[in-house]
Amino acid sequence: MRTELPAVKILVGTMTGNAERIAEEIELSFDDRARIEALDMDRLTPAVFDDDAVFLICSSTYGQGDVPDNARDFYKLLGEQKPDLRHVRYGVISLGDMTYAQTFANGGKRFDAILSQLGATRLGEVFCHDASTGTLPEDEAVPWAGEWLSTVEESMLAQQL
Ligand SMILES: Cc1cc2nc3c(=O)[nH]c(=O)nc-3n(C[C@H](O)[C@H](O)[C@H](O)COP(=O)(O)O)c2cc1C
Repeated sequence: MRTELPAVKILVGTMTGNAERIAEEIELSFDDRARIEALDMDRLTPAVFDDDAVFLICSSTYGQGDVPDNARDFYKLLGEQKPDLRHVRYGVISLGDMTYAQTFANGGKRFDAILSQLGATRLGEVFCHDASTGTLPEDEAVPWAGEWLSTVEESMLAQQL
């Protein structure tokens, strides 16, 4: 029987706080299912992936399909340092607005692309929130995160077999 809850680190890229609010809500909603910690990307280096955890990227989109300002340095360092991330499992919540149809939710999708290039394995599909629908991002992202945590749990069980 499994005795330990999975460790989940949510890496937050945000400009106006939506992604941060999602991370807070996920922490509060699932503290009985995982040891969840949210980290702002502006303090991060690729060394964060040395931690024994599953990672949830939670990033919005700015400029012309770019990552938000507080995520720029972290994203750039991943491209420059090219760490070997074959041990990493991750999920992605990407925030955007279909008004920007050409670049919809590219912030999180950029992280998905670079993490997979570096050898990491995504658990689940990328979840995208479209701000033009008027729905609150956390109302959609938190239930999605519950399903995603089930995928994390299944993956941990499979590794113990
Ligand atoms: C100036 C500006 C530029 C944006 N550019 C894009 C974009 O290129 N593509 C996209 O899908 N969404 C874009 N968005 C929408 C944001 O990503 C979306 O509103 C998101 O929920 C903001 O989350 P945050 O508060 O965590 O930063 C843009 C929003 C603003 C204000």
